[in-house]
Amino acid sequence: MITFNPLNLTSKLNFSDALYKGTADIFADYEKDIKYIFSGKTAIYILLQYFRTIGAFKNKTSQLLVPPWMGTWVYIMMHKCCFPSLVMNKDIAGIWVYHQYGFPQKMELILDFCDENNLFCIEDCAHALSSFYNGQKLGSFGDAGIFSLAKFFPSVLGGAIYTKNDRIKSFINKSITTDYSELSQKVFNIRHEVEICPTAKNMLKLEQCYAVYDYFSECPDYSLNISKKCIEDKAIEKRKTNYLKIIKELESVSTFYIELPNKNIAPWVCPLFLPLKTMQKATQKLSKNGVECGIYHFDINRNMLNPKYKKCLIVPCHGQINDNQLEKIITTIQSVT
Ligand SMILES: Cc1ncc(COP(=O)(O)O)c(C=O)c1O
Repeated sequence: MITFNPLNLTSKLNFSDALYKGTADIFADYEKDIKYIFSGKTAIYILLQYFRTIGAFKNKTSQLLVPPWMGTWVYIMMHKCCFPSLVMNKDIAGIWVYHQYGFPQKMELILDFCDENNLFCIEDCAHALSSFYNGQKLGSFGDAGIFSLAKFFPSVLGGAIYTKNDRIKSFINKSITTDYSELSQKVFNIRHEVEICPTAKNMLKLEQCYAVYDYFSECPDYSLNISKKCIEDKAIEKRKTNYLKIIKELESVSTFYIELPNKNIAPWVCPLFLPLKTMQKATQKLSKNGVECGIYHFDINRNMLNPKYKKCLIVPCHGQINDNQLEKIITTIQSVT
């Protein structure tokens, strides 16, 4: 199976093999303002709790402006601290900017809106570990940005928060405890088990774990070390090359392109805008051939304040995909056009 996330299919993980003694930084120039944590979902909880403690959210009914079409558990996590809302209103205290699939939202428009309405701004970079907008890294425009390592590397778990704000940094430091390390190790194993054996029973176990992701805080060493190794092995560059190859090969059948001010984007998955019938046929055939895919809504305005959703087919493009597999994805789609 070729999945959206790169997987770790080693059945017995060797933790000492994963020790990393090199010097690679996952976030390069931005590393000094990064705090690693358990996962992206944990990052959501920690940051929103910060805005509760400083009174930006008055109570649990205060609201956060969010876009539609994020994963259910993202909204569920938010609900532990506030109410996510799709509509601007007087109870909105902050904005959640989702850089879908790694493609930047138009940050200059969103930051102006935040200034005008006195809102805090969090960037969701779960899909945008290494994407830039006008030369600046996504995640560094707002008050803070959240990241998910396991969407980019076979790290099983792992998340990060970027912020230059010292008060947020010290809140994160205080939130990181070892209180639940035994339980978090169990969750690590369950998450890994799902990668090796994604049965309904295992998925149900993981889903139960999601409900308590806010109790965990530390990033597993294993996750951090594997991610650093992948950076050293140029996983991000491979991803970018794969993405560009898919886009180029399907140029003649695409109905739309994401135009960007610069090309420094490492997408989580590759969105393809094809006629609906083609996307439906491609989804069936790709799934049959063991490629994870689906038809989803993408904001082609890249502006959550004035979005325009268009359906696209998403296919994996991560660094573990070899040339043959990439070719298989491309020719399968071509065969149904
Ligand atoms: C948009 C978005 N934000 C945050 C997360 C949470 O990341 P993680 O899987 O590392 O908990 C996800 C993952 O599903 C996501 O899709």
